[in-house]
Amino acid sequence: MSERPLRSYGRIKARALKPRQAGLLETLLPHLAVPAEGTIEVDALFPSPWRGEGPGVGVTNVRASTIGVSPHPLTPSPCRGGGTALEIGFGGGEHLVAQAVAHPEARFIGVEPFVNGVASCLRHIEDSGATNIRLHMGDARDVIARLPEASLDLVYILFPDPWPKARHHKRRLIQPELLDALARVLKPGGEVRFATDWANYAEWTLWLFTRDARFAWLAERADDWRKPWPGHVTTRYETKKLGDCAPVWLRFVRLSR
Ligand SMILES: C[S@@+](CC[C@H](N)C(=O)[O-])C[C@H]1O[C@@H](n2cnc3c(N)ncnc32)[C@H](O)[C@@H]1O
Repeated sequence: MSERPLRSYGRIKARALKPRQAGLLETLLPHLAVPAEGTIEVDALFPSPWRGEGPGVGVTNVRASTIGVSPHPLTPSPCRGGGTALEIGFGGGEHLVAQAVAHPEARFIGVEPFVNGVASCLRHIEDSGATNIRLHMGDARDVIARLPEASLDLVYILFPDPWPKARHHKRRLIQPELLDALARVLKPGGEVRFATDWANYAEWTLWLFTRDARFAWLAERADDWRKPWPGHVTTRYETKKLGDCAPVWLRFVRLSR
């Protein structure tokens, strides 16, 4: 039997939620949440009208009636083949929602265990009107384990908890087991985009990915790791500059199987 991974995150709840955020957890999250168990079929999460599955409103209503909440006006919409991205640890959701708004043709799954972060993300989703986002409040490793093989085009891991003390390195999200899981769910040519402002975490991640024959580091010159990739949206944690170095931007491609 495989062991549960160590907890890679800190607190899951901070200050009391504002009434609007608490309300959105009740009313909006159930419509956007990935199934709590079983295989997560991405096409079923983001229904497409041309496959005869309806515009998504039906899905919302089924879920709403099952869990006994009234439908939220922000219903899932069809997304037209722009690829599927996963953001692990989206914090307050600023990056996730900005990317979803910038790429309405793509599908975004965000995972975050921090309740206040999920509530903040729901507020951004509602304010933006983005309909191409699904969420899971919990551990991303549980979601990845339930995704089908080769189902993702892009995985963002932006400023993960650094766990800088050596005795805590085992809590870091980036571990050989996570690389196994990512190698399974990424399509060939799919990418992992990782950023940190902790030098040892950058080295750690680089070492794990570059010794793994399933991935290749997409860097040809120093600016490829010193500067963010085109289209990057600054994250809240990034602006805090809490690390011990300038941000390091690492892109790894999943090689063909
Ligand atoms: C330092 S914060 C950065 C948040 C955001 N990416 C940013 O840059 O502002 C790291 C986040 O990763 C989340 N996290 C840690 N382990 C996780 C896991 N196993 N699954 C999903 N999220 C996780 C934490 O709860 C936290 O919100």
